[in-house]
Amino acid sequence: MELNTSGIIGQSTTLADVFRILGKVAPTDSTVLVTGESGTGKELLVRALHANSCRADKPFVPINCGAIPKELLESELFGHEKGAFTHAIRSRPGRFELADGGTIFLDEIGEMELSLQVKILRVLQEKEIERVGGSGCKKVDVRIVAATNRDLEAEVEAGHFREDLYYRLNVIPLHLPPLRERGGDVLLLARHFLDHFCRKKARPPLGLAPDTRRILAAYAWPGNVRELENFMERLSILVDGAVVQPSDLPRKILDQVGDISVLPDVEEAGAPEADASPAQPAPVASGPAQTRPDAQSGDFVWPDLAVLEAHGLNLKDFLDAVESRLIDEALNRAEGVKNQAAEYLGIKRTTLIEKLKKRNP
Ligand SMILES: Nc1ncnc2c1ncn2[C@@H]1O[C@H](COP(=O)(O)OP(=O)(O)OP(=O)(O)O)[C@@H](O)[C@H]1O
Ligand SMILES: [Mg+2]
Repeated sequence: MELNTSGIIGQSTTLADVFRILGKVAPTDSTVLVTGESGTGKELLVRALHANSCRADKPFVPINCGAIPKELLESELFGHEKGAFTHAIRSRPGRFELADGGTIFLDEIGEMELSLQVKILRVLQEKEIERVGGSGCKKVDVRIVAATNRDLEAEVEAGHFREDLYYRLNVIPLHLPPLRERGGDVLLLARHFLDHFCRKKARPPLGLAPDTRRILAAYAWPGNVRELENFMERLSILVDGAVVQPSDLPRKILDQVGDISVLPDVEEAGAPEADASPAQPAPVASGPAQTRPDAQSGDFVWPDLAVLEAHGLNLKDFLDAVESRLIDEALNRAEGVKNQAAEYLGIKRTTLIEKLKKRNP
């Protein structure tokens, strides 16, 4: 089966190793523990795991164990019966019940209290849960996937995490390397996010000057992919020129990388010419009635009402036709691979599938 990497971008060997294990473990029901620094894409990976599993059409239920107050976490996970505590005015199923048949994602599991850890262990072993204030057990069929940015082994050592639960969760460990260990992926991701945010703001894609590329590649990205993503959004708003210059970068980054002249050159595959000066108009297709002056260079001619009149189209039909054309072009270019086509279009794969369904119900 072809692995659906659900929008996880990267070609580094470190990430390829992760994909290889993902492909093997996804179709099984094994418990997986995802580790990695903050912002490395743990949640994205877990979603991909679910999407590639036999449970893909069943619920995916995430819960952030670190974000829910300790007193509420148990009832959030296991549900409660009416009257179980002061505010329990009616019975309520917990996330495990909601995830029945699917996958539950216990995010930031390292934050969970020891008393609750015992109960998770119990679900793993007995495959049944008990609501707070309940008197009986209920079978659930749920795959458990957990993630943490803590060193759980050290937490076990320190007595904060149960050793038995650690081993039970860590059947298949998946470690996401920090961005600084993914080589060329930094620029690949920078390009992806920059294009995405420029498109969202309806501005032409920004180029990256050679020195900017060297700086981005050399910076350590302590906040990993999330930091890079947020930073690219910022550039898409603040940079006035067509090319991001080192002077557009914040002190924090410049200071950390030090002397630019000693940094190695880095190429950016498939990017718009970084030193191309005047901005090209955004590559939007021309409408069906337009002659396409130069589709290759992305030149765009705004359609006018005459186009609608000449073709006897109303606005909706016209827009549908434009959309349909772009979808076809993307699918052709992607040789039918929907993930890739969706990426070219800058939409989610699920959105593309919806659109295709609407086209051929
Ligand atoms: N390889 C990748 N390709 C594309 N986008 C990515 C990639 N890795 C992470 N992202 C994006 O970066 C952001 C952070 O990812 P995610 O939330 O999965 O990280 P996390 O490891 O769960 O972080 P935290 O520990 O802070 O919860 C998200 O917007 C995600 O879509
Ligand atoms: Mg997360």
